[in-house]
Amino acid sequence: MNREKYLSDPRFRGIKPFPSKVWLSSPTMHGEEMAYVTEAIETNWVSTVGANINELEKAVADYLGMQYAVALTCGTAALHMCVKLAAERINPGAAPGNGLLGQRVFCSDMTFDASVNPILYEGGEPIFIDTEADTWNMDPVSLEKAFEMYPDVKLVVLAHLYGVPAKMDEIVGICRKHGALIVEDAAEAMGAKYTGSVVSGMCGCFGDFSAVSFNGNKIITGSSGGMFVTNDRADAEKVRKWSTQSREAAPWYQHEELGYNYRMSNIIAGVARGNMLHIDEHIRQKREIYERYREGLRDLPVTVNPFESKSTPNYWLSCLLIDEKAMCSQVRGDKDYMYETEPGKSCPQEILDAVSAFNAEGRPIWKPMHMQPIYRMSGFIVRDGNGRARSNAYIAGDGADIGADIFRRGACLPSDNKMTPEQQAVVIDIIHRCFE
Ligand SMILES: Cc1ncc(COP(=O)(O)O)c(C=O)c1O
Repeated sequence: MNREKYLSDPRFRGIKPFPSKVWLSSPTMHGEEMAYVTEAIETNWVSTVGANINELEKAVADYLGMQYAVALTCGTAALHMCVKLAAERINPGAAPGNGLLGQRVFCSDMTFDASVNPILYEGGEPIFIDTEADTWNMDPVSLEKAFEMYPDVKLVVLAHLYGVPAKMDEIVGICRKHGALIVEDAAEAMGAKYTGSVVSGMCGCFGDFSAVSFNGNKIITGSSGGMFVTNDRADAEKVRKWSTQSREAAPWYQHEELGYNYRMSNIIAGVARGNMLHIDEHIRQKREIYERYREGLRDLPVTVNPFESKSTPNYWLSCLLIDEKAMCSQVRGDKDYMYETEPGKSCPQEILDAVSAFNAEGRPIWKPMHMQPIYRMSGFIVRDGNGRARSNAYIAGDGADIGADIFRRGACLPSDNKMTPEQQAVVIDIIHRCFE
């Protein structure tokens, strides 16, 4: 990105770069974090046991209305434990790493790679399910189509993107009908609620196995960390064991099954425990940011990321989607991009460059998994069937691919809960000027 180009562009005349960076979503500390960390150090509980871990597990389970929570090093580790538990049910007795061998697994397509990786850790084959336009999550119609094509599938890995609950009534209904387990990736959705007719509750309580993340950019952070949440005591105990190298009940280190070093440290737990006290405040701040974008961008040919009326998101990231008619030409390669500025039009890369030139951080929408080089040979299902090889040299059009379209026209905007309304007004002004 050529910063000077933006700073000297007459469209942006009069705007000054932010003296300190306005982040996409950075950690917000309050003071209690330091107190809990200090207490852990002063009492020498500087390991993977201690009061911070116990209290954080209790606080998260209570907040989500669940019985058990197991604190782990990260959300990805929690997802791995979820997938491993699912694999044990589907394929009991399979060798470690081969729990899903020979199994296809349906998975959200527009998400972070961490949702998918655990399927591969366990030897499974992901099949990506296209996205719907109402919440930007897994499309139930495409999911139903996928079960029609692959009726033997026993596992669905579902993410709630940007803190917006997926269409859980439909998805839970479909999975029950087909006897499939759900791994719920609620990494981005801690504190988001859904009041449906089939299921109701907080994100993190809908899966047969669920995970949240305390990564530094999440709504609550421990600097890193994650949590496995469940109502099943045996599953919680299994994850406690697996995540501490699968130690058996013996006076020495005795092992009968493969273990992992996935347990959260009591120091990280201190940060997350203190931060967790502020979850409702963080959600309120994120909601206000979302509402200011919605109002401030109303006169532009864009919309903000949508949600259903039965959902209360945590508003983790605010995003925009540019109307097709207002998209300038934008081309993305594997690692680079080009666009052509046009009056009255813009594109995500131009908006992200402009925002970045003035020292604020946005981000492209998650690039859908079916478009990722690593998954180029994996299946991809859309509403009317196979989402691969859609174009035909002899017929116009190439069929719907909602995820690719949202990736092409969408962007995540600076959504840091320390961003002031004045700073946000400047970001909104920059976006306006991109369309001049
Ligand atoms: C959708 C999604 N799934 C999983 C993860 C993984 O969480 P962690 O970074 O804590 O491993 C993240 C975030 O990082 C995420 O955004």
